[in-house]
Amino acid sequence: MDVQNIMKQRKSVRNYLDKIVSRADIEDVIRCAGAAPSAINLQPWEYVVTYGEEKDRLIRRLKKVHAMKHVSCGPGTKAPLPEKISNRSRGALKVMEPQISKLDIPFNQFIEQGSCSFYGAPVAIIVLMDKLFPKLRYLDVGLSVSYLLLAAEGKGLSTCPIGLITEYGDDIKAVLNIPEEKEVLLAIGLGYADETAPENDFRTDREPLKEILTWYE
Ligand SMILES: Cc1cc2nc3c(=O)[nH]c(=O)nc-3n(C[C@H](O)[C@H](O)[C@H](O)COP(=O)(O)O)c2cc1C
Repeated sequence: MDVQNIMKQRKSVRNYLDKIVSRADIEDVIRCAGAAPSAINLQPWEYVVTYGEEKDRLIRRLKKVHAMKHVSCGPGTKAPLPEKISNRSRGALKVMEPQISKLDIPFNQFIEQGSCSFYGAPVAIIVLMDKLFPKLRYLDVGLSVSYLLLAAEGKGLSTCPIGLITEYGDDIKAVLNIPEEKEVLLAIGLGYADETAPENDFRTDREPLKEILTWYE
């Protein structure tokens, strides 16, 4: 499949088959993530892969800390977002909610519990950047993550980026022995999608080109 079709096909997956992802495939995907461009080739991204018992141990800790702190997904902005932008999020909820309602679990609980357990993905990837880098280098890490998501898709694997758990970065670092000077920027669930699951049976919308592109001629 060419890269444009891989981009069109990719979507976040929130239910996975109980099927092992080979170490070679995981390494291929991370190798592709490492092929991303970065400012003066600094390559500020770092990836920690967890699966099996280590991943389960991490999930236990995340669930425990989440039960105490109850962080939920939000835009994280200081001021309310303009209607036009918050409507994008509402649009996603509109396609998600009818599917999640089939699961007999409140929507927020599904997202929070699901995020803390990487939605059952057999592999959880933790994305790190050393704190010595300026915040601008988040951009480079984001590019690398995009490469990772697309490389996974190209291999028939699925992913879900999970930002919610960054609130529990210190807990993640404690469980996985990640040094203090690293910042947890994101987690990514990786595995084979359960195509029959209602929670995977929707696609979020995007703005038309005219909303994101300005020409000066
Ligand atoms: C940085 C980032 C953080 C995200 N955090 C979460 C999360 O914590 N939980 C979740 O279920 N989805 C999370 N997502 C997935 C988004 O909800 C999803 O990308 C968005 O709704 C667009 O849908 P799509 O990925 O299927 O195209 C995150 C995505 C990104 C890029």
